[in-house]
Amino acid sequence: MDDIRGKTVLVTGGSRGLGEAFCREFARMGCRVILNYAHGREAAETLAAEIGATPYRCDISDEKAVQAMFEVTGPVDILVNNARIDPYKRAPEATDGEWWDQVMGVNLKGAYLCGKFALEDMKKKKWGRMLHISSIWAYQMPNERMLSYAAAKSAMHALSRGFAALGAPFGITSNVLAPGLIMTKLVAERLTPEAFAREVSTIPLGRGESPEEIAQAGINMIRSAFITGEILNINGGAFMRP
Ligand SMILES: NC(=O)c1ccc[n+]([C@@H]2O[C@H](COP(=O)([O-])OP(=O)(O)OC[C@H]3O[C@@H](n4cnc5c(N)ncnc54)[C@H](OP(=O)(O)O)[C@@H]3O)[C@@H](O)[C@H]2O)c1
Repeated sequence: MDDIRGKTVLVTGGSRGLGEAFCREFARMGCRVILNYAHGREAAETLAAEIGATPYRCDISDEKAVQAMFEVTGPVDILVNNARIDPYKRAPEATDGEWWDQVMGVNLKGAYLCGKFALEDMKKKKWGRMLHISSIWAYQMPNERMLSYAAAKSAMHALSRGFAALGAPFGITSNVLAPGLIMTKLVAERLTPEAFAREVSTIPLGRGESPEEIAQAGINMIRSAFITGEILNINGGAFMRP
């Protein structure tokens, strides 16, 4: 396994939930962490100060802003494409088309843009790791709310394979991590105890996943130089349910 101490890591959407767990773990392992966020400045700056990371505000759906972020932060060794628009956060006034563009803009185009800029620097170093955070929704039948989210996550798998192919001659790997139900604060607040019990009862291992155990699984993937173009499903056995 590669030693990633001293590597520069960019975690998009690093201010809370799974992104926060990645930032904490990378910082603990001695990486230089760039913590990207878009709206919640206070949360990002507080966390960054606590773990010694550099906060960077950038809407990853904005190409010029992403380019500027890479110019300011310098070359990135490890990219975790984690940021997302929460599918529950649709503004009531957004039309179907507007909402589709917003979801695709952050959850897919944002991941593409970050990957594209990261790849150029990684090629020069002949070393790089990309990890794209997908979801069980890339596979399971979406309801109306989850349709664009699921489509973006599915497409992310193709995006990751594309980066894996482009990066392979330079020793760069690209993989997908697809979690099931993550027990972030947001999820815990959103689900009623009854809804939570219902969700968990369908998971063979009988619980949701902690952000920390998902981040650790992702970092294990990153530390391998020989896993690329792959998808790690981490969902407590949810694919075995009837
Ligand atoms: N939660 C789950 O149960 C679950 C399950 C499967 C997969 N996942 C995946 O795991 C990842 C993390 O999920 P989570 O629940 O931790 O997410 P979350 O709590 O919704 O946090 C999203 C993060 O993305 C940032 N963000 C939002 N829009 C952005 C933009 N335009 N540019 C840059 N950053 C932006 C947010 O920062 P600001 O607040 O500052 O905007 C925040 O840091 C996502 O890719 C998600 O799809 C989650």
